[in-house]
Amino acid sequence: MSLPSSKPFRPSLSDIMLASARNVLAVKEGHSLSESLAATPTGLRPATQAVVFHVMRRAGLAHEIKQNLVPRTPPDPLFDALLLVCLVLLETAMSAQREGEAGAVVPADWPVYAVHTVVDQAVVTAAGQRGMRTYKGLLNGTLRHFARERDSVLAQARQNPEALWNHPDWWIRQLRRAYPNEWQALLDVANRPGPMTLRVNVRRASVEQVLGALAQAGAEAWPAGATGVTLAVPRRVTDLPGFEEGWWSVQDASAQQAVGLLNPTDGMRVLDACAAPGGKAAHMLEYADIALTALDSDATRLQRVGQNLERLGLAGAGVTLKVADASDPQAWWDGRPFDAVLADVPCTASGIVRRHPDIRWLRREADIAKTAVLQRKIVDALWTVVKPGGRLLYATCSIFPQEGEQQALRFLKAHPDAVRLPAPGQLLPVSRNGQDIFSDGFFYALFLRQNQGSSE
Ligand SMILES: C[S@@+](CC[C@H](N)C(=O)[O-])C[C@H]1O[C@@H](n2cnc3c(N)ncnc32)[C@H](O)[C@@H]1O
Repeated sequence: MSLPSSKPFRPSLSDIMLASARNVLAVKEGHSLSESLAATPTGLRPATQAVVFHVMRRAGLAHEIKQNLVPRTPPDPLFDALLLVCLVLLETAMSAQREGEAGAVVPADWPVYAVHTVVDQAVVTAAGQRGMRTYKGLLNGTLRHFARERDSVLAQARQNPEALWNHPDWWIRQLRRAYPNEWQALLDVANRPGPMTLRVNVRRASVEQVLGALAQAGAEAWPAGATGVTLAVPRRVTDLPGFEEGWWSVQDASAQQAVGLLNPTDGMRVLDACAAPGGKAAHMLEYADIALTALDSDATRLQRVGQNLERLGLAGAGVTLKVADASDPQAWWDGRPFDAVLADVPCTASGIVRRHPDIRWLRREADIAKTAVLQRKIVDALWTVVKPGGRLLYATCSIFPQEGEQQALRFLKAHPDAVRLPAPGQLLPVSRNGQDIFSDGFFYALFLRQNQGSSE
């Protein structure tokens, strides 16, 4: 018996709009897109992710337009989210028609929908949902109003900084204060998709080998740092050669600097105190023959460390994985000090917003101070497990100084036996003249624990 050939599932724009609206609503309710997209049916997920990521990068503008055109928020929250999605799609479709227009951001791989398709499909979506049918006319009228008076509607909306920069007001204020010269470039770059960089697993392949295989597969790429390769256009990992073979992992170029800074050498006892999902743990094991203890307080996330090490051929002897709270060494430490400790502490993730465009809308300003308290607790506790003469690398993927330089200065004051060694400090995703530099925002501070009685 022959089975019917399975046709690839092509979701309609209306399906994608509805799924995107559900994801937008989830973010409004405080859930991350990683969580909500996991609940989106597999066949719909890639297209929905592309749309909803783009919506997050335009949500400040779309929200302001919505407020101006529909001052009374519709009582159905899913419809309200759909309206936001459709406004972004329509604005993008119109921007695409006027390529090069200032302020227009159309992703390179964007499936450009015609303006009338966006409006028609929006109405089809509302008509197909029992609770939304009554809003069909409102949706149609709002979208047509926007299409007719786009320039004046946009100009009015952009008077609000949140709409102009597509970030919350408090976030804009924080960056303005911290980076009087770069804040605009930082906000601008955060509204564009991030680059895709691979870290070559030098135990299995070389940078040349990976570049060669990528070229054969038609993927343009160039070397980045010691063992990195940046792709001209991001692709799905499974569409690239060498993933299953463990030749490489996806890891941003800034994150790849951690291991060279800590510089673990053969035979060292090393602690990765906040290890999941294991990017830097794997890098350390690729880099040197060490005895590694990898902790994470989240058991589910720690499982991913094991899976990643397995794929890269790095699991086994010499690696101990532990679910534990790094800030409470009494609960997990056997008393033998570590030569090197990586404290890649939890943070607001303000340096990686282009990869996680929902973060800016999920965070609250008070989170910076709350996170800083947790970071302080963890790093102070970890100092006690560092061998005299050993090193601790403090790392965050944040660009807020409260989680970076301010923490480093506080740490030095609190620990007279700490000496600060050279490390890049705050890395920004833009250069001093505002150019995108194809890597994330990160912070690094490296500390040496002095031998007692020594001044080195
Ligand atoms: C920035 S991520 C680490 C990324 C990881 N180093 C990598 O390169 O893949 C921070 C991690 O810290 C973990 N974490 C949060 N609080 C912790 C604590 N008190 N003790 C240990 N891990 C913690 C989180 O679960 C999260 O996995």
